[in-house]
Amino acid sequence: MSIPHIITIDGPAASGKSTLGSRLAQALGYLYFDTGVMYRAVTWVALERQIDIVDEAAIARLAEQLTIDVREPSHPDGRACDVLADGQDISWEIRRPEVDANVSPVSAYAGVRASLTAQQRRIGLRGKVVMVGRDIGTVVLPEADLKIFLVASAQERARLRYTELLSRGEAADYEQILQVILRRDQIDSTREVAPLRAAADAMVLDSDALDADQVLQKVQALVNRMREADE
Ligand code: DC
Repeated sequence: MSIPHIITIDGPAASGKSTLGSRLAQALGYLYFDTGVMYRAVTWVALERQIDIVDEAAIARLAEQLTIDVREPSHPDGRACDVLADGQDISWEIRRPEVDANVSPVSAYAGVRASLTAQQRRIGLRGKVVMVGRDIGTVVLPEADLKIFLVASAQERARLRYTELLSRGEAADYEQILQVILRRDQIDSTREVAPLRAAADAMVLDSDALDADQVLQKVQALVNRMREADE
């Protein structure tokens, strides 16, 4: 086994995937690619253009036509990357509660997934990448050499999202956040196309029992074991 060139991290909303993914990518000198931002970008633009979220054909057309760019962060304001939709910087807009509330139905549309999955796969196959999402190990890059699946209780994930919003100076209601997370889990794991589930060959990590440093250490130990086995 050699050092993994394609690493996938999947798991439910707010399970710590982005923190793990960005830190791991930085440690390895790999590209960090959070695929959730693409579904969020389509959702934000749909809301802005007042396209009805239940109009599957219109949303799928938007996903096909929209140019979504994910780049290295241009501002040191806490963002992990720049997200551009048709050239417009929407890095923070995609984190708004109205996007949280509408992104699950958008990401359940087969036409939306087909457009975005194809773009993600092209980027992933270049290698030296840590790709984060829901279906990366199962659908987007099933040939990945290291697959992580993060799990955590809905309560712990709601608490994390709540403190994250407060730390950005935004209003937050814990109960409401918990309800949105539970509803998104339900839609994400029961949808027909690419439901949220661990790949058979994924390593499942429970982040309730571990803090962010411990999760990172466990994955780095795994990467090192793969590297040593090759030497
Ligand atoms: O990880 P996140 O919360 O930013 O994801 C936003 C939404 O996009 C979430 O409802 C699940 C969906 N998503 C998906 O279906 N497949 C992915 N690969 C990434 C995200």
